Amino acid sequence: MSDKKNQLHDIENASRDEIAALQTSRLKWSLNHAYSNVEHYRQKFDTAGVHPDDFRELSDIAKFPTTTKQDLRDTYPFGMFAVPREQVVRVHASSGTTGKPTVVGYTASDINVWSNIMARSIYASGGRPGDILHNAYGYGLFTGGLGAHYGAERLGCTTIPVSGGQTLRQIQLIQDFKPRIITVTPSYMLNIAEVMRSEGIDPRETSLKIGIFGAEPWSEEMRTSLEDICGLDAVDIYGLSEVMGPGVANECVEAKDGPVIWEDHFYPEIMDPDGGGPLPDGEFGELVFTSLTKEALPIIRYRTRDLTRLLPPTARSMRRFEKITGRSDDMIILRGVNIFPSQFEALLLSDTRLSPHYQLELNKEGTLDVLSLKVEPQISSSTQDPVQLSAELQETVKQRLGVSIEVWVQEPGSLQRSEGKAVRLLDLRPKS
Ligand code: DLL
Repeated sequence: MSDKKNQLHDIENASRDEIAALQTSRLKWSLNHAYSNVEHYRQKFDTAGVHPDDFRELSDIAKFPTTTKQDLRDTYPFGMFAVPREQVVRVHASSGTTGKPTVVGYTASDINVWSNIMARSIYASGGRPGDILHNAYGYGLFTGGLGAHYGAERLGCTTIPVSGGQTLRQIQLIQDFKPRIITVTPSYMLNIAEVMRSEGIDPRETSLKIGIFGAEPWSEEMRTSLEDICGLDAVDIYGLSEVMGPGVANECVEAKDGPVIWEDHFYPEIMDPDGGGPLPDGEFGELVFTSLTKEALPIIRYRTRDLTRLLPPTARSMRRFEKITGRSDDMIILRGVNIFPSQFEALLLSDTRLSPHYQLELNKEGTLDVLSLKVEPQISSSTQDPVQLSAELQETVKQRLGVSIEVWVQEPGSLQRSEGKAVRLLDLRPKS
């Protein structure tokens, strides 16, 4: 096999000028493609008084209207497709907690591009042709399973399409096939490791050396914990179905300093989440993407609701973003204080008596919102008085996060384990 550099796509080491030139020409194409072929975009651009010809340089993107999940719902199921339906070879959909799913489509060329950037993502994570890859992302309408699968095959990995669930079978296959790479949500990896231990298997002793973890927020503390428990490199993969699926951005294993955005296919912006305009690199806000090459579903300035900031290039020529620890949807506002579930995760992981298995519940008492944190102790600490531990944790949360909440330290094993995306926050407040 040739050296590492030769395995990278040329654009990964291109100059910033080359990348900007490519983005400019591709953005022009994408805006025209959306405007000419999708009635919904045409109407939105016309209403905003803007035309693809108004785009001349990258900063002109700010003139164009943004797109939200609601636009996809309004055009359900196929109204955002920019090619005749017969050219759409694959459809995925995200379930969504309420209402209709959002449907996305791909041409054969889109699938080809997606496979290439997923292969690039696995490579950046340290995967190499010939590796065995255990894919525990769910197969089906969710983009995780098939997205990772096509990328793994494209890179030349021996791909094991396990999908999510049946944890004992997952462990059996890891023991028998000896994969070097696992692709899975971080919360399910924790679950798998826990079941391994209960079966008398040390997760550090398996063949797994690389975990490509994503599809949900996970903290730096969780990275440290997963690497320690499983004895592997934990690398962050990011993506969303509306923009493509997994592989929109991926960390480089040698840097582990935030996902690198594959800027030759996705143009990133950070916007003020409260409706203001674009923010400069380095400022914190909502991540927004425009697709540069997608045929079936061009997406213009899609508001992801993921909160982060853009960072300068390091291991590749493309910009990164800071590891995403929250979505605007998951932000809890408790008596004026904004908090994200991942902040609790970080706090729990810093206390060796507590496990990372937790769930938050938001209830209403009278007019007040009340937040409860349910958490399990580490098995080794399960003799500790739960009432005492709860009181201590309650005090720590107050000191460190500035909010008063209820804390319940529960029996080990009592909280539901994740087999895919973990549900960290249950909003049980009555709908008004
Ligand atoms: O979760 C695609 C994916 C599959 C990504 C497998 C990575 C691995 P959706 O179901 O459309 O697509 O959910 C997208 O999940 O907007 C984020 O809020 C969240 N998310 C995805 N990856 C990460 C990550 C897939 N690495 C939504 N860190 C996104 C934090 C993530 N959040």
